[in-house]
This record gives sequence, structure tokens and C-alpha cells, in this order.
Amino acid sequence: MAFRARVLSGSQCLSRSVRGYSAFASNTTVFKDVPPLRAYRNELLKQDRTVGLVPTMGALHEGHTSLVRMAAAENTDVFVSIYVNPTQFGVNEDFASYPQTLESDLKMLQTIDRELASTRGSGRISAIFAPNGKTMYPTLLPSSEIDGQGSFVTITPLATLLEGATRPVFFRGVATVCTKLFNICTPDRVYFGQKDVQQTIIIRRMVKDFHIGTEVRIGATKREEDGLALSSRNVYLGARRRAVGTVLSQTLMAAESAYLKGHTSRSEVLGAAEAIWMDTLKRQKKLQPSQRALFEVIYVSLADPDTLEEIDVVDETKGAVLSGAIKMLPIEDPQPREEKGQGDGKVPVRLIDNILLPPRA
Ligand code: PAJ
Repeated sequence: MAFRARVLSGSQCLSRSVRGYSAFASNTTVFKDVPPLRAYRNELLKQDRTVGLVPTMGALHEGHTSLVRMAAAENTDVFVSIYVNPTQFGVNEDFASYPQTLESDLKMLQTIDRELASTRGSGRISAIFAPNGKTMYPTLLPSSEIDGQGSFVTITPLATLLEGATRPVFFRGVATVCTKLFNICTPDRVYFGQKDVQQTIIIRRMVKDFHIGTEVRIGATKREEDGLALSSRNVYLGARRRAVGTVLSQTLMAAESAYLKGHTSRSEVLGAAEAIWMDTLKRQKKLQPSQRALFEVIYVSLADPDTLEEIDVVDETKGAVLSGAIKMLPIEDPQPREEKGQGDGKVPVRLIDNILLPPRA
């Protein structure tokens, strides 16, 4: 059954879903505007139902859907937002080419919702919020300039570190759009992926500092079998860069095992990491341009789990955040029959990943 894409008022939606949300094969309404979604949310509140919000930029994969399942296990109703937020992309970043796959995203959510319908005690995906730019930014067109005008939420210094050091407007955009989504949906709980660890820390800080009445829940990073973290941007990699892209998770895993063996100093933990990526890069550089995939390491970081400040020694009572970002460079000398991925191998692909080093008892 197709998703009902027409905008419904709150009471119309609820009349179908409130009497036992597991009874309907198609239980989900796609909302484009704020007032009907608000009305719907208010009806749910009166019925003592709970809402878990999963904010996304679409191009959904198992990383996203694992958050949806987690939200369904903990709430009666799951709201999923799908919106590629322009303000979190810098002027020279990939906003224009970011994958947009609304139709297949809706199908994927519909399939999951059917599964949830037959899972005892599970909540359902009852609302998808897919607004346009004018809805999300009703007054001023959003700016991606660092000193651009607009109504922004900034969480510093957290937003200036790591990812923020090379993407200065990124977390301002994330915090701004998430504030809007939280205000619109007033969720009991919000769901974010560990994959974007800095984002989770910033959202937690924002919820605390602005007294936002929601609980922040974090889902584990979903990976391919060889360790590559799932990401909407992986479609650009193509076979050659895909194979080498595992260097990031391997780099972090090497540092993790140094810590698990008892090392705590920055030089020992990050030294183990550096050995892996340097060796991989050296081997790639020896290959012919028609075979190799080169990358730049943007950072590999060992940081405090609360402040994200770099640390010299891991405080074993707190543990640490090990994180990294690399840029897979466009492929050289593309071969005619090679699988080059979306964008023909020409799009540089930024990969990020992290591992939490646990506190030691
Ligand atoms: P997006 O990249 O679409 O990710 C949406 C959510 O899915 C985020 O919480 C992200 O951490 C999570 N996620 C992505 N890949 C994952 C993986 N491999 N395993 C587990 N979770 C994963 O993050 C954003 O969108 C945006 O910044 C957003 C929060 C929606 C604001 O625009």
C-alpha cells in the first residue's frame, strides 16, 4: 500500500491510527508542513503516547533504520524527518550533489513499518516529516557563509573542534536545524548515531544548555562486514576507493587495541593508528595511477569524551573518544570497465569514523 503523501490534519490522522496503532498496514503519514504535524503531535500527547524522533537527511541505509528500530522499541510512535539541511554545508561542500532519494526512502520506511506492525509491543512509524526549505527557514534564506545572517544556534567551543575545524559552519547548521525539528515535533526522545560522535555530544550539550525537554538516545555505528561505517556518501566511492576506504576503521581499531592492551599515552595510542594509515598510503602510492586510490588524513584524534579537547593521556576513569576523518581523493586514470560509483569517481569523499575507548574499572 502506498504512503499517504497528502497532508492531513491532526485529528484525521489520529482517527486511523489511535485505536491500536499496530492494526494498520499503512499507518504512516507524510507531513510537509508544520501546523498539521503539530496538531497530530498534540493528539498523541492527549493519548499519552510517546514520540521518538529520528532526524535524517535521507538516502537511508541500515545506520538510519537501526535508529528507527531503536525508537520503535522505546516509543509508541516514531517520527522520521528527511531534510537535506543547507546550512550545515559549507559554500564549497557537496550540498548540490548530496544524494536525494525520497521515493526509495519512503519505501524503505514502509517496509520497516510493516515489520514493526508484526512485532509485539513495538511502536510504529506514524509520521514522516519531509519539509522544504521555506518551511524550515521561514524568514531568511539560510546562509552558508561563516559570517552569514540568519537565526542560528551555536554551541561553542565544541562546534569548532575536530569536524568543525575544517567545516566551520557544519555544527551551527546541525544545531539550528535540530532545534527547529525538536520544537516542531516535541519528541520525548531523539535518536542519533554513534557514527557521528561529535554531533551526539553537541546535541547533548544543546539539550542540556537550552533545557530542551527531550532525552537523547544514541545508537551503535552500523558497519559493512569489512568495517567501513555505513554512510549516505559511500555511494560515491566506487570499487577502487571502497576497498581502500577501510583504512579509517582499521586505523582506529589499531589504536583501540593499543588502549585495550593497557597503553594510555597519546603517542602509544595514536602511534599505533599512524602506523596503519601510513603503511596503507605508502602501498597505494607505489601502485600505478590506474590502480591506486589515494587519500588525505584530515585528523586522527584522541579526545576527552565530554569536551572533545585533545588529551595527552587517557584518564582511565573516563575513557576517551578516538576519531578520525579522511578524504578519499578523486580516482586517477579511470579505467573503462571500472565501477566508479556515483559521480564517476570524480567526487572527493570525506569519511569519518570513531570508537569510544571505555573507562577501565
Ligand atoms: P544523516 O547523515 O542522514 O544521519 C542521520 C542519523 O543517522 C544521524 O544521527 C547519524 O549519526 C546516523 N547514522 C548515519 N550513519 C550511521 C551508521 N553507520 N550507524 C549508525 N548511525 C548512523 O546526521 C545527519 O543526517 C544530520 O546532521 C542531521 C542530524 C539529520 C541534521 O541535519
